[in-house]
Amino acid sequence: MKIQIIYCHPSKKSYTFQILKQLKSHLDDEELEYEISDLYSMNFKTDMTEEEYEREGFANLGLPIPKDVKEEHIKIEKADCLIFLYPVWWSDCPSKLKGWFDRVYSVGYAYGSKTTNNIKRMKILKYGLALCTAGHPNDFLHEIGIAESMRNVMIDDRLGQRFLNKEMIILGGTLDRDKVRQSHSEILNSLGKRIKKYCV
Ligand SMILES: Cc1cc2nc3c(=O)[nH]c(=O)nc-3n(C[C@H](O)[C@H](O)[C@H](O)COP(=O)(O)O)c2cc1C
Repeated sequence: MKIQIIYCHPSKKSYTFQILKQLKSHLDDEELEYEISDLYSMNFKTDMTEEEYEREGFANLGLPIPKDVKEEHIKIEKADCLIFLYPVWWSDCPSKLKGWFDRVYSVGYAYGSKTTNNIKRMKILKYGLALCTAGHPNDFLHEIGIAESMRNVMIDDRLGQRFLNKEMIILGGTLDRDKVRQSHSEILNSLGKRIKKYCV
């Protein structure tokens, strides 16, 4: 059983980095194996080249998949569970993570009806979790419809049919961290068992 964490925050001084540390410690406690794709540390390239666009836009499966994208595919294929950990920026994930989807969800691999012998289709994973921190409190994000729109995009579209079980957890209210720290810790505390329920 293996978990792949796709972590997206530029700063180790951030609240999101503290959440990553807590998450790792809970996974260690539960003896769950994980690997991290730290998109900023890896300097993961998130702009498409013209050739990549032509591959995606025209479903031209004869064009090559870049090496760094293939490496992400290999990590996905080894995993049972993906956890996307990121801060909410402008009501979505940071552009670096959006670019990960743009590039890693290649046509012929993650979507599209065309297939070719040299590209394996993306596996169906057991569990996908979008875990995001947000400045606004959850109640407010629900009241203004943003929680639902983030869920539609992230869970219904990006995770989509590629996961048997999928969830979005918004760790909201980080503008007043002292008020939410305890409840966020409790949510993280329950995660290891949740992952085991779906994946083991
Ligand atoms: C560029 C930027 C855009 C942001 N947009 C939103 C937003 O749309 N909604 C929201 O609730 N919080 C927003 N925030 C607040 C972050 O979600 C919050 O700072 C983060 O979740 C936790 O802080 P961290 O950066 O220390 O990890 C934004 C922060 C930044 C830097």
